[in-house]
Amino acid sequence: MSAEELIAEARAAAANAYAPYSRFRVGAVVVDENGNHYAGANVENSAYGSTICAEGAAIARAVSQGARRLDTVAVSCLDSDEAGYPCGNCRQLMVEFGVRRVVVDAPDGPREHALAELIPFGFRFH
Ligand code: THU
Repeated sequence: MSAEELIAEARAAAANAYAPYSRFRVGAVVVDENGNHYAGANVENSAYGSTICAEGAAIARAVSQGARRLDTVAVSCLDSDEAGYPCGNCRQLMVEFGVRRVVVDAPDGPREHALAELIPFGFRFH
């Protein structure tokens, strides 16, 4: 699936963001090794530290439904006029499930990165 199509899905997911505190809506779509798609959006909390990122929500959804190997994560920050890169915690969540490619929405078009470029030497427990 093209980067543009994945970003369109991530943007649609961002419409469901629960972001009353930051007003910063983020959407993500995860594609597993079999081509299944799982969408997520950020879910904020009045205890700010309990907030769940869009990428984490999408990854949790994929894994909760049985996926174990993930291929791609696409992310879009609806309320930003800059590229919205995944935070460090979300990058580490991606390492766990073998994500290969990250697609980031940006004003000049989707940016594609290898996960290893965004998080070299990610933590592995073995
Ligand atoms: N956020 C994400 O959803 N993904 C990221 O990678 C970084 C930040 C959300 C969390 C919070 O709801 C809002 O963006 C502002 O930090």
